[in-house]
Amino acid sequence: MTVQYVEKLYNRYSSVYDLIFGKVFHSGREMAPELLDLFPGAKLLEVGVGTGLSLPLLPRNIDITAIDLSQKMLDKAKQRAAEIRRAVKLIKMDATRLEFPDNAFDRVLAAYFISTVPDPVRVVQEMKRVCRPGGTLLFLNHFQYENPIMGPLETLVSPLCYRLGFRTDLKLGKLMSACDLKIDTLEKVDFLGHWKAVRCINP
Ligand SMILES: C[S@@+](CC[C@H](N)C(=O)[O-])C[C@H]1O[C@@H](n2cnc3c(N)ncnc32)[C@H](O)[C@@H]1O
Repeated sequence: MTVQYVEKLYNRYSSVYDLIFGKVFHSGREMAPELLDLFPGAKLLEVGVGTGLSLPLLPRNIDITAIDLSQKMLDKAKQRAAEIRRAVKLIKMDATRLEFPDNAFDRVLAAYFISTVPDPVRVVQEMKRVCRPGGTLLFLNHFQYENPIMGPLETLVSPLCYRLGFRTDLKLGKLMSACDLKIDTLEKVDFLGHWKAVRCINP
């Protein structure tokens, strides 16, 4: 999976994305504002904003910048922002190389995103760099099961899922230690806990 491949794929998904992933991921997006502990004037960066489904759920008194690799996904996000009359800075950018200075944001949100990038460690390091010390990083995602049946099964199917634009073998513990991050809170998003909300405080 390369960045170029992911970009092409999500350009193709853009017309059907909301229909397929709108409701499925909605409960996580709903949890995000509280877990992010937003305050008036907070500078929030959303990486991999997609079609902007999180935007209507975020409070109006914060300053939102959102990036995505796919221009077609971003076009949908721009349309949504206009519909709800939100002034959001929506920028086409690769999260592997964030074009922001160090410590530029108070909060960074990665919703259903980190398993779609070829180099998650590099992306998390970029998220850390642009988030101020003591700021919050929030990941909504599925991480590989640790149980002895599902875990190996996910390793097995991951190459296939790569072709669809996401991986199933991303291990939360490994990612955290590779990026020198500690989990502040970990919550189940759905009843079975397939999806998780992982909050970290930027060291
Ligand atoms: C599964 S979608 C999630 C979209 C949105 N966050 C949501 O909650 O529905 C993943 C998004 O990440 C974007 N993406 C993947 N790799 C990226 C990268 N390296 N830089 C920026 N965006 C990327 C894709 O284009 C896609 O829009």
